[in-house]
Amino acid sequence: MRHSFYKAAVFLVLLIAALAFYIDHSWLYAYLVILPLVFTGVYNRVQGKHAILRNFPILGYFRYMFESISPEIQQYFIERNTDGKPFSRNHRALVYRRAKNVNDTHPFGTQHDLDTEEYEALRHSIYATEPVTDIPRVTIGSSKCLQPYSASVLNISAMSYGSLSKNAIMALNKGAQKGGFYHNTGEGSISDYHLMGGDLVWQIGTGYFGCRTEDGDFDPGKFAEKAANAAVKMIELKVSQGAKPGHGGVLPAAKNNEEIARIRGVKPHTTILSPPGHRHVKKPEDLLHFIQQLRELSKGKPVGFKLCVGRTEEFIDLVEKMKELEIWPDFITVDGAEGGTGAAPLEFSDFVGLPLEPALIFVHRTLEKYGLRNEVKIIASGKVLSAFSILRRRALGADICNSARAFMFSIGCIQALRCNTNKCPAGVATTDKMLAKGIVVEDKAERVYNFHRNTVHAVMELLGACGLKHTDEITIEMFVKGDEMVALTNKYFPDSVLNRVE
Ligand SMILES: Cc1cc2nc3c(=O)[nH]c(=O)nc-3n(C[C@H](O)[C@H](O)[C@H](O)COP(=O)(O)O)c2cc1C
Repeated sequence: MRHSFYKAAVFLVLLIAALAFYIDHSWLYAYLVILPLVFTGVYNRVQGKHAILRNFPILGYFRYMFESISPEIQQYFIERNTDGKPFSRNHRALVYRRAKNVNDTHPFGTQHDLDTEEYEALRHSIYATEPVTDIPRVTIGSSKCLQPYSASVLNISAMSYGSLSKNAIMALNKGAQKGGFYHNTGEGSISDYHLMGGDLVWQIGTGYFGCRTEDGDFDPGKFAEKAANAAVKMIELKVSQGAKPGHGGVLPAAKNNEEIARIRGVKPHTTILSPPGHRHVKKPEDLLHFIQQLRELSKGKPVGFKLCVGRTEEFIDLVEKMKELEIWPDFITVDGAEGGTGAAPLEFSDFVGLPLEPALIFVHRTLEKYGLRNEVKIIASGKVLSAFSILRRRALGADICNSARAFMFSIGCIQALRCNTNKCPAGVATTDKMLAKGIVVEDKAERVYNFHRNTVHAVMELLGACGLKHTDEITIEMFVKGDEMVALTNKYFPDSVLNRVE
């Protein structure tokens, strides 16, 4: 191989010289193409970093080229309607159609093989009814809360300005405002683009962006000031996130421009690390006292925390402590390990944390056992996209749901799998101003609104098919294999844990 490259290079150089000499001088122009290829080839032969290019100095580039467009090749030529990852083409298309407010029906029957273990279905009723038009809302706010919030059953999950473009954030917020649901800021603090009129859940991560001291600790004064903003309806302390539980974050110096630094309250053009855990939270009472502090500083707005369940014993200890100290959150957001992220190490996305459904059943049962279920609302996130998924989460113990990636689809995400490169072609998960311009805010805000409205309408239609009027009436028994859904907990939790919650 090595010698054949040199032979081919010498042969071509001589051939062009001969053609130019004997036939026509214009053959010399061919050197414009050949010489750069020869130089590239020679360079690749001597470089020591890329084995493929050392062995195949020119053809080797095709490998890199195809590798770089492998998600597109998969999606356009290989993927079937039912097997795209993480979301199938059918699921993405459902969001696109609902967001565009066009026909969201599906032709010719199911494409799923129903004769498998995975088949999930609702048991509808002989006495199906018209869907009720009175859309359910859920009040979040325990007896400790002074400013309860009435939430929709579907809301926008945490995604920061910085991981999403400013146009994406504005479109989401305006859609939320029109549809009467909330928009979680993500841990990157409240940007100007979040203030388009939509209700906000302000998320506080371990970096305390927007409320941090110079050395990265929590700043109560700054927190109180921002929490007083009327747009902020609830506060969410992020303990962990399903896609990367127990992993911190990095804001690279290159992304930390003047604007982001101002919003997050950090020094511009420096690399900022968010630690894996909260500095002062080392035991259950620390977390609960922090929640109490946030509640007081926000003058009684609902305060909750988000976690992906890992060690169940720790969660049980925490709930026990809630009872003992009489301090509990107004809500707990349970994020499944199947949840999305802008960027995370593969090991964390694939191998850390519990999936949503068993975690949800566990959290619901534990709160019930300690008599706190009426006080603490449960919010579920993790691949919530269809009306069916909302009802299933409801049946397993969630009061309401958050969705991140379905709302990304609604504003044009094509699942290009480039969120971690800043090169999102749809302008959604990028800070590149040129790419972000692809999103026309007003148009996409309408789609956010439509997606939410049509999905909630589909929830009501499914309830109607079951002869029900309200999401509260849905139970696990109304699902095919409902008992197996509950038995899921046994698969994940050892007897010692189950004995404590049963
Ligand atoms: C681009 C992107 C950014 C995210 N940023 C945050 C964040 O700042 N804080 C957080 O708690 N979760 C974050 N998440 C996780 C989501 O809020 C949510 O928990 C998770 O994606 C599960 O929902 P999904 O399956 O509907 O996407 C992010 C997810 C995505 C896709």
